[in-house]
Amino acid sequence: MIKKGIILSGGMGTRMSPLTKAVNKQLLPIYDKPLIFYPLSILMLAKIKDILIIVNKGQLNQYRKILPDGKNLGINITYKEQFSPKGLPDAFLLGEKFIGKDNVALILGDNFFYGQNLTKQLLNSIKLKKGAKIILHKVNKPELYGVAKIDKKNKVISIKEKPKKFLSDLAITGLYFFDNNVIKFAKQLKPSKRKELEIVDLINKYKKNKKLIADLIGRGGAWLDTGSIEDFYKTSSFVSAIENRQGFKIACLEEISLNNGWIKKRDLNKAIKFYGNCEYSNYLKKL
Ligand code: TTP
Repeated sequence: MIKKGIILSGGMGTRMSPLTKAVNKQLLPIYDKPLIFYPLSILMLAKIKDILIIVNKGQLNQYRKILPDGKNLGINITYKEQFSPKGLPDAFLLGEKFIGKDNVALILGDNFFYGQNLTKQLLNSIKLKKGAKIILHKVNKPELYGVAKIDKKNKVISIKEKPKKFLSDLAITGLYFFDNNVIKFAKQLKPSKRKELEIVDLINKYKKNKKLIADLIGRGGAWLDTGSIEDFYKTSSFVSAIENRQGFKIACLEEISLNNGWIKKRDLNKAIKFYGNCEYSNYLKKL
């Protein structure tokens, strides 16, 4: 069982400058809440309560203002600063102590997931005991992503970062599940040409040992990565359309916590006070 999760929430956000000059990308709004709420909600839907958020140097105070220690959500949030963006596998070097002897999930702070079967899929993924699991989603322009080719049993046959020649149209999303070997493997990595540790190199180590499986988010699900300003607005529109149509919120952390039995209805009053007079609070009142 995977009971620990890391959110990699640093990065330069260069593509979104000047918005990201003073504020970290993951604190910017996707419609009615900060981006960080969405990946956090995914870990919470996976029933993961022990969460490490990796943030840029100097951003800790801002994060703590919106997500203190997690007690208000019935979870346990700890922080670690990353001094410079050394690449995604750096999460396991910075998180070594946090992970300890356990298995761990990793989600990128700017990834958005939504879909009917998602929670079921997440609860299935945290059962991972050995090896690693990646989550794939069909995309129109695979040449822009890390992609994976799989066999009929969802075993990964090959992976390639931004392939020039067509390999597969299944992009590797920013949600991963690893056994404890991930720390050892991350330590073996060498920086690539762009001077970063590469996640593709890390999952390749599992692939070589035939320990890499994949899960697919079908066409009923959405995966959006919010790296550019255009993506940011598209994701905001998506959330706005669904929320206003259904009257349900996506990534309302207190609601997930309540449904998981981690907080009680009366705890919502504290949250309402904390957020103040706003639409998010009105939603909490309705719960
Ligand atoms: P990227 O999209 O690779 O980088 P970025 O978010 O800084 O954006 P840009 O390319 O515009 O500069 O990162 C993906 C996610 O991972 C994002 O949420 C930031 C996070 N990240 C870290 O926290 N540390 C890192 O070392 C890297 C590379 C990314």
